[in-house]
Amino acid sequence: MSCVATAVTARGLAAWPTSRVARRAGVHAPRLRASARLGNSSPGGGGGRAIFAGVSASSSPEASSTGDADASSSRPSAPTLRRGSNALQSDEDGAPHVPVLMRQVLECFRDVRLRRYVDGTMGAGGHASALVKNHPEMRVFVGFDVDPLAHALAKPRVTAAAAETRRDGDAPFRFDAVAANFREMRRVLSETPTEAEDDDVDAEAPDGETGRATRALFGDVDGILMDLGVSSMHLDLPERGFSFNDDGPLDMRMGPGAPRSAFDVVNDWPEEALAKILREYGEEKHWRLLARRICEARADAPIKTTHELVAALGKIPGVKGGRSGGVHPATRTFQAIRIAANDELGAIEEAVPAAIDALAPGGRLAIITFHSLEDKIVKTAFRKAAGLIQTQPERPFSAWERQPPPPPKRVALVSRKPVVADAEEVKRNVRARSAKLRVCEKLP
Ligand SMILES: C[S@@+](CC[C@H](N)C(=O)[O-])C[C@H]1O[C@@H](n2cnc3c(N)ncnc32)[C@H](O)[C@@H]1O
Repeated sequence: MSCVATAVTARGLAAWPTSRVARRAGVHAPRLRASARLGNSSPGGGGGRAIFAGVSASSSPEASSTGDADASSSRPSAPTLRRGSNALQSDEDGAPHVPVLMRQVLECFRDVRLRRYVDGTMGAGGHASALVKNHPEMRVFVGFDVDPLAHALAKPRVTAAAAETRRDGDAPFRFDAVAANFREMRRVLSETPTEAEDDDVDAEAPDGETGRATRALFGDVDGILMDLGVSSMHLDLPERGFSFNDDGPLDMRMGPGAPRSAFDVVNDWPEEALAKILREYGEEKHWRLLARRICEARADAPIKTTHELVAALGKIPGVKGGRSGGVHPATRTFQAIRIAANDELGAIEEAVPAAIDALAPGGRLAIITFHSLEDKIVKTAFRKAAGLIQTQPERPFSAWERQPPPPPKRVALVSRKPVVADAEEVKRNVRARSAKLRVCEKLP
């Protein structure tokens, strides 16, 4: 089988700083067990002690540089995780994250010849491995994720999927795992070559050294999926500090490159800034009151853990029995702080136009969002690229003047309304409840 040449470009994995929160909270014993090492052993590494000590994969850059690996014989094993009280289910392969809208995602790429594919959010590799299996024509798979644990989980699944569905004599399959934020997609794909030299790469840009032709992937991608937000691994591992159900350090960073931790936001930001994110990112009705309570609590001592934050928020007015419409009163506050810590909306705003530019004509971009703030950014970016939103002219035009040209149409919207999960999926996987899938196709 001429299957897996695995190039793991683990950009960013080395830089996981020992977090302020973990230092201050004195949380040093993450409950993750794994089979080999990731990140901590990467060049210049040594970070990640607090949260990711022991997170593993054989996908460290040293462990798996480009080579002619037979995926079935050198299949890395996925890490074993001990999870908190949020963990209710796993997907059919036993992975700790159940992918949402799987049927609809496969459907939207069904008629696309997916030779070059980018997964912006690999997570546990559920969508990724299904797409690799369903598209044996796939030659290049580039998978982004900021979380080293996602790489550890996704890599063996993608590798195994390729090994299962490729035969001897098939064209080689290349897997590039990129440990970077998807907001860097433009740069990363511009620096990533397309297929190997035996492919149909034209000879416009010959590589002087080897005489081979090289061409960047950017502008040549047939399909991109971005399944936004957090994974079950974030929510279900108390030591990541995303969940108010289990006590853990106030961390909430999706990966080592996050601009700040939840601890930094909660303890360092001025009251007005906290109030603003509670209102805008959390859509929290009681934003002013909750921001004040956080500031009052932290005046006594820093708020170090998720349960200390829940205690600081106190009882929410008008919420009886601890929940409002089935939603825990801390939900919106936690969402707001998480979005701020990871600058999630800024990353999406940068990445969507870059992803559209990265597509080849006929290529498709599919994005799954989980709340209205994300969906609004995606919807607006798609509608702009489809020429449905006129960008503001620099000056007003009078009726008898020649009007400004209509906005260029670079994509077609595959469906006007977002695709949502059916009742049966929501019953199986409650996280599908708020998922919305939007798809656009690049025009020639
Ligand atoms: C909902 S999960 C994806 C699950 C995946 N589709 C699967 O089937 O397992 C989202 C993943 O995206 C990653 N992520 C979130 N924001 C990111 C960003 N800006 N850049 C790169 N990865 C990101 C998270 O670390 C998480 O692993």
